Amino acid sequence: MIFIRRAELSDAAQIQRVYASSNTLAGTLQLPYPSVEMWQERLRQMDPNDILLIAMYDGVVVGTGGLQSEKKIRRRHVASIGMGVADSFTGRGVGSALLTELLNLADNWHNLARLELTVFCDNAAALHLYGKFGFEIEGKHRAYALRNGAFVDAYAMARFHPRPPVIPESGL
Ligand SMILES: CC(C)(COP(=O)(O)OP(=O)(O)OC[C@H]1O[C@@H](n2cnc3c(N)ncnc32)[C@H](O)[C@@H]1OP(=O)(O)O)[C@@H](O)C(=O)NCCC(=O)NCCS
Repeated sequence: MIFIRRAELSDAAQIQRVYASSNTLAGTLQLPYPSVEMWQERLRQMDPNDILLIAMYDGVVVGTGGLQSEKKIRRRHVASIGMGVADSFTGRGVGSALLTELLNLADNWHNLARLELTVFCDNAAALHLYGKFGFEIEGKHRAYALRNGAFVDAYAMARFHPRPPVIPESGL
């Protein structure tokens, strides 16, 4: 069974393993040969209002999903999402479980109206996943990033809160 919780500093070594796999390297902006220290540093420096969730399967970290909110006042209704699942665990619902919980946090707790993400145009699995959860393509970044010697395009995707909270009528 998949279990989702917040990533702790002590998870750094297992997260490093997730991002050392070739699928996550190809689908994200990570670099080859990630170090455990880099992940420790990243976890240590995280803004306490942002969150990195991990998916555990049989006590092993098999994926992560993060919600990073914009810090500028006029963009405080916006956060970006990034995620990755270890090669050997893709296609088993881990990505869906992580995204379900990230959207629950975004919609019901973090006071966000707009979620953004960037996904390489040829990443069929991620495009399917994000489409399933209501993200829409808003545009294309050309030559967005270098991947294994070639510049690749990426889509900008976004999703708006489906049921924005309303201010209750005054009972006075
Ligand atoms: C994208 C990613 C997070 C998906 O995680 P996952 O655990 O495989 O996701 P799930 O198993 O929950 O679901 C994947 C969905 O995509 C579908 N899918 C898988 N491969 C597919 C493909 N090549 N084309 C179309 N759909 C595909 C699955 O059928 C499933 O659809 P369903 O829920 O309607 O049945 C994972 O593949 C990954 O980490 N990729 C590398 C890193 C990455 O791309 N991160 C996202 C960067 S924006």
